[in-house]
Amino acid sequence: MGIKILWYVSGPDGSVPWEPHASWVNDFSQFQAQVQNIDRLGFYGSLFATDQHESIAVTASLAPLTERIKFITALHPGLISPAKLAQIALTLDKFNNGRLVFNAVNGSDQVLASFGVHIPHDERYKFSYEYWDAFRQLYARSSSGYDGKYIKLAPKTDFPERGAIAPAKTPFEIWGAGTSDPGVEHSAKLLDWYLSFADTPPRLGEKFRKVAAKAAEYGRKLRFGTRLQIIVRETEEEAWAHAKWILEQTRLETAIRLASRQLGPKGLDAEIESDDPLVHKRIEALRTGRLPDVRDLEIYPNLWVGPALFGFDILYPWAGTWIVGSAKNVADRIHELYAQGTEAFILSGWPLIPEAQRVAKILLPRLDLDHGFKVPSFDEALVRPFLDKVPEHIWAEH
Ligand SMILES: Cc1cc2nc3c(=O)[nH]c(=O)nc-3n(C[C@H](O)[C@H](O)[C@H](O)COP(=O)(O)O)c2cc1C
Repeated sequence: MGIKILWYVSGPDGSVPWEPHASWVNDFSQFQAQVQNIDRLGFYGSLFATDQHESIAVTASLAPLTERIKFITALHPGLISPAKLAQIALTLDKFNNGRLVFNAVNGSDQVLASFGVHIPHDERYKFSYEYWDAFRQLYARSSSGYDGKYIKLAPKTDFPERGAIAPAKTPFEIWGAGTSDPGVEHSAKLLDWYLSFADTPPRLGEKFRKVAAKAAEYGRKLRFGTRLQIIVRETEEEAWAHAKWILEQTRLETAIRLASRQLGPKGLDAEIESDDPLVHKRIEALRTGRLPDVRDLEIYPNLWVGPALFGFDILYPWAGTWIVGSAKNVADRIHELYAQGTEAFILSGWPLIPEAQRVAKILLPRLDLDHGFKVPSFDEALVRPFLDKVPEHIWAEH
């Protein structure tokens, strides 16, 4: 057992990807550079979200350019038949040494309905369980079909002369998330790895222990991972100066828009129920037309809820939360989270290529890693060419 460090590859990139002046959308050559960069740097894997680029297409296009990283590919249940998905997974695993993993995510009612899936949130988890259960059986070459409430597959006719593809691993590894009661139930019954957005080490540990207890009811054991934005520098001063710079680059209207994911449709007019004085201080700052002070967004040593591509978590830590600090302190905090049960850390810092290099150079050597291979020492010559994919004007500002 040990720590696994992954990197989040996404379409939007830049030093401040939520602001037009400091961002761009990656093209195919930049995606290629992204995955080759983290593969050479020795990351364990990469997460591909249900983003604007279709995740299986992204994985199929990029995996052959890499050798070691696992592709944690997010998928909403029901968009393709589980039998078809098993065929896709067997093919991708055969061509890429079994490095495919699915991230089973439930999605939202609006998004799923727009893809033609009209099962509401809670019930979708029941559907999802059958979907992934059927998928796993078919991946393991079952030909007896599936007779569930939602998933019905006729037994498969085999053509012996063509030969079936052997699974690269059994069972197929599934990661996933889900915080609601049906989400936790689904995770306990199905997943190998349970992911949660970040929180303070004690609170994240408590959440994981609850999910582990639920899994134990089914005789199952899960492993746990979290997701964090990262600013790591040689010193605390440098790291916090960069966090401050990010705040300064974020316009007030963007900050309010990003914060509205937590505030809801009323935005700053929402009634705030929190006994945390810092939450009220942050809201007050936005209401008076300025961004909060950098340290008023620190919720725990080295955990920061400044603005990010995935939200401005001013009420509570969630998808936009950061880890900020010197390499030593960030490593200490990661080990503290590890002691609370977190084994996998899906990180991202922007721009994605140089920040992954920084993490590999100054953070990875300080961590008790278990990537299943020897993590190479940082070799600038090997990854320098990928920096050419960062647009010059943004690189200069950074
Ligand atoms: C690390 C991580 C990655 C996620 N990636 C996606 C994603 O790519 N697409 C998506 O629709 N939801 C994604 N989610 C959201 C979850 O699927 C789920 O909606 C969320 O955890 C809330 O679950 P709940 O509705 O059961 O409370 C992700 C969640 C986590 C923790």
